[in-house]
Amino acid sequence: MKKRIDLSDAGPPQGANAPAGGSAAHAVASVGAIRFNEVATRDGFQIEPTFIPTDDKIALIDALSQCGYAKIEVTSFTSPKAIPMLRDAEEVMGRIQRVPGVEYTVLVPNVRGAERAMESRADELNLVMSVSETHNLANLRMLREKSFSGLAEVIRLVDGRTPINVSLSCCFGCQMEGNVPLATVLSFAERFVNLGVRGLTICDTTGMAHPAQVQAVIAALHARFAHMANAPQLTLHFHNTRGMGLANVLAAVQSGIARFDGSLGGLGGCPYAPGASGNISSEDAIHMLDAMGYDTGIDLGRLLDVARQMPRIVGHDVPGQVAKAGRILDLHPAPAYVAELRGETT
Ligand code: COA
Ligand code: ZN
Repeated sequence: MKKRIDLSDAGPPQGANAPAGGSAAHAVASVGAIRFNEVATRDGFQIEPTFIPTDDKIALIDALSQCGYAKIEVTSFTSPKAIPMLRDAEEVMGRIQRVPGVEYTVLVPNVRGAERAMESRADELNLVMSVSETHNLANLRMLREKSFSGLAEVIRLVDGRTPINVSLSCCFGCQMEGNVPLATVLSFAERFVNLGVRGLTICDTTGMAHPAQVQAVIAALHARFAHMANAPQLTLHFHNTRGMGLANVLAAVQSGIARFDGSLGGLGGCPYAPGASGNISSEDAIHMLDAMGYDTGIDLGRLLDVARQMPRIVGHDVPGQVAKAGRILDLHPAPAYVAELRGETT
């Protein structure tokens, strides 16, 4: 992705959502399209301690549908015993107002989940397994090979009727196992690509990734798939567990990645990733990229209005920062004495 940013003036950058009339010296050309998949109602809600009413989930998804997302991960078709927060998946999928141009995807761990997802007319099935054996056992209660063969069966049954994405958890390390070899990540990625999946999401489930590692993993994936006619769409999924979330997004963008998962308010986490905390906050990541001149397709003002409802919906404060501080372009009036000190008062 070529960047054409004029940084000759260190003033505030003017992104796609900047108000009109910015000075030409601050103008930033659009530097490429980055697309977001909003996962707050899946990755975000699955770890919440209190059940979020179905009506609130639906209202939130309907509001997000108006914000310019490429994709929304609505819910998961997992065992309601494993993830009770999302036990209303069918009702949510049945009652949301689908907006043309937005893909409504769902997380699926097994054949039973795929059957439910197909009945709910999901636009995409996001299959999930972990590249860490220990995390796969903790999260999905089966060995990786059993997950792989179950998901291969899903792909065979779906038979091209619905696009398939595969989310590979713990690609940057596992909190229980430690390092996960890059060769393991590449091997599972390649096996799914050979089954014809449209996309792969490379997940930092445990928030262990750092920017140099992100660049190394992406370079290895690109090298592995560059020659393929059916190269997968790559999405990156980061958690901000150790404060490296946005640095990792930037490292990925600089490595040519144009698709990210994000969670409104920075909610989220896998119940089986010890110490895991929220995903990168969608609005903070979008705000950063927008300020740098990337085209995110998102109406950031509208998104921030929705983000500010998150504490009420979940009943507690959320980590997202821009919804609290405002955009860098949202100026505040100076205290009255500033005008006095400038000698401007009569
Ligand atoms: N949807 C609904 N129910 C399901 C299901 C699905 N996709 N998969 C299994 N079940 C039900 C079974 O029917 C069975 O019900 P019963 O006890 O009433 O007979 C029960 O769940 C257990 O089934 P089993 O096949 O033995 O599953 P398990 O207990 O080994 O659990 C998973 C395996 C994958 C279903 C479960 O661990 C799971 O859903 N995990 C999701 C974890 C997750 O989403 N983590 C966060 C995202 S990364
Ligand atoms: Zn996650």
